[in-house]
Amino acid sequence: MLAVGAMLTALSVGACTRVPAPAARTENTPLTTPTFSADVAPILTGHCATCHRPGQGAPFNLLTYADAQPRAAQIAKVTSNHVMPPWLPEPNNPSFVGERRLSPDQIATLRRWAETGAAAGADLPLPAIAASEAWALGKPDLVLRPPTSFGLPPGEGDVFRNLVIRTALVQDRFIRAVEFRPGDAPIHHAVLHLDRTAASRGRDGKDGRPGFEGMGGIGTQEPDGHFVGWAPGRGPIVSAEGRPWRLAKGTDLVLELHLIPGATQAPVQPTIALYFADGPGADAPLMFKMAAERIDIPAGATDYAISDRYTLPVDVTLLSLYPHAHFLGKNMQVHATLPDGTSRTLLHIPQWSFHWQQDYRYSTPVALPRGTTIAMRFTYDNSDANFDNPHRPPVRVVAGQRSTDEMGNLLLQFVTASSVDRSRLLEDVTAREAVANIARAEQIAMTSPDDVENLTFLGVSYVEAGRIPEAVAALTRSVELDGRSWKTRNELGGALFKAGRVPEAILQLQQAARLNPREASVQFNLGKALMTAGRADEGAVALTRALALNPDFAEAHDEPGVALFARGRMPEAIAHLRRAVALAPDSAVAHSDLGGALAQAGQREEALMHIRKALALDPRNTAARENLARLQGGRR
Ligand code: HEC
Repeated sequence: MLAVGAMLTALSVGACTRVPAPAARTENTPLTTPTFSADVAPILTGHCATCHRPGQGAPFNLLTYADAQPRAAQIAKVTSNHVMPPWLPEPNNPSFVGERRLSPDQIATLRRWAETGAAAGADLPLPAIAASEAWALGKPDLVLRPPTSFGLPPGEGDVFRNLVIRTALVQDRFIRAVEFRPGDAPIHHAVLHLDRTAASRGRDGKDGRPGFEGMGGIGTQEPDGHFVGWAPGRGPIVSAEGRPWRLAKGTDLVLELHLIPGATQAPVQPTIALYFADGPGADAPLMFKMAAERIDIPAGATDYAISDRYTLPVDVTLLSLYPHAHFLGKNMQVHATLPDGTSRTLLHIPQWSFHWQQDYRYSTPVALPRGTTIAMRFTYDNSDANFDNPHRPPVRVVAGQRSTDEMGNLLLQFVTASSVDRSRLLEDVTAREAVANIARAEQIAMTSPDDVENLTFLGVSYVEAGRIPEAVAALTRSVELDGRSWKTRNELGGALFKAGRVPEAILQLQQAARLNPREASVQFNLGKALMTAGRADEGAVALTRALALNPDFAEAHDEPGVALFARGRMPEAIAHLRRAVALAPDSAVAHSDLGGALAQAGQREEALMHIRKALALDPRNTAARENLARLQGGRR
């Protein structure tokens, strides 16, 4: 039984050589009459049974002649029109890992089999395929489940539910692969997010049932520039070679589930197996989002288009793409125009289907030089002719999180050749994303001015874009509407601090600390604000508390390091600053501060190394420039 499971997985990734050998044809069997055992079974085993077997979400099995024979005509139809096996991209894309596609010959065989009476053929024993109990990648390092099962009530419409899973990890782990098992739950697809804040825990169970409603949470993140999504037939989700993602201790997993209710109540409690890598890998990939600023589709529109373009500031290697729209999405095109003017298709989906969305990882990563422009163009069909349209008759549809709203996102996963390029790209895309987030949140704020979560998100986005007075206004409004969120008060405190309104910042941060005394980032912000206000002793207490709550908080080491430095307590300062650098090796500020302290302590060579690293990461870092000038001046 276990071995069968493993074999099936191998077949699903396209090892066509391992399907049962066709039976020898006898002389009186015309070549034009395919049989189940000789011709059809190998196709079904290799391309259909990954999903069409027990426990994999397809509505019926396709394992035996008895399963397939009554459906011969239907099988011929859905394979001829490319509905099955489900795979959205056109064949002229660069090739992707795990493509599900039949060859024209295979499609013709299934059609001829149906047309010639769906013969059984020689009685070949078929592999006994069953829902496998074995994990495809062997014994996992950690198996997690939501603590309680969510009872999916019977019904018609799609249900989006997020289940929160806490881990008992005592150290950070690096995840190289995830295997997902839906159990008997009708899970259409699942996306794994991380929450480093307590936001998802706070929402968990608030409506009296496990988890919380909606598509994605606010405050959740994708794991370290990876997209971890599962759908039936998907198999294990393995990270790009040498690039595991960090699962920090204390971080919650938030499993976003798209559920299709049936006629009876269904228990939903999937299992997730995690496989650890030995340690962190190369630089984490960067996940970058392209999207239209606004979506506003008139009722009845058949070809509403959105588009976005981005010109790369550095050379990159594109690992994967994840396009996303809801039920109205139609045609998706992604092209790259290289600096020499040549153009290539990165992805073309002629007919989008919300049901079969997934991420697409290139078999060979695509190198794109600096100056390449990536352009996306998605179209939408909001007419009656769109079978998936959730509104009958059609209504105007705008951007939003509900499945009946629309979306048009393209996530791109990049790696760069150096950490300097990585920092440049990160800076560029963060600024760009903040602008896009603001546009979307402002649109939501126009229709729902009292949406507290959206106002907080808008405020945080304003902070990221450096629009501090507007940030203070949005966050103040959010706190006025709901003063119980430590997170919003923490953000408001941070924004007030940036606006130079330090006493007001301290008041907000003290309230945030009262609401959540165990949050390191609140203690950190409070400590920093108190220090700035000249209340050094209170500030030191808060910073110490931040470090006690999270010893791996890089900035919380930097801050006391600088404070101790200012008081001339060199060895202690250097110890903190070294820790800050170890925890945030890509932080120019951390390297610059450590370099400064080492220079002061007379450790010139090591000081120079860190200052140079700081300047490589951020050539505009003024403190590092000054320190470098001073150190090099001293040599002359
Ligand atoms: C990735 C999983 C997956 C694979 C691979 C797959 N199917 Fe399906 N199939 C499904 C699911 C799920 C449904 C239910 C309908 C839906 O959700 O679209 C389905 C529905 C069907 C239907 C019913 C269609 C209808 O109109 O009701 C047929 C017939 C079918 N599949 C045949 C096949 C054949 C033949 C293959 C292989 C060539 C195949 N499937 C491969 C998941 C899969």
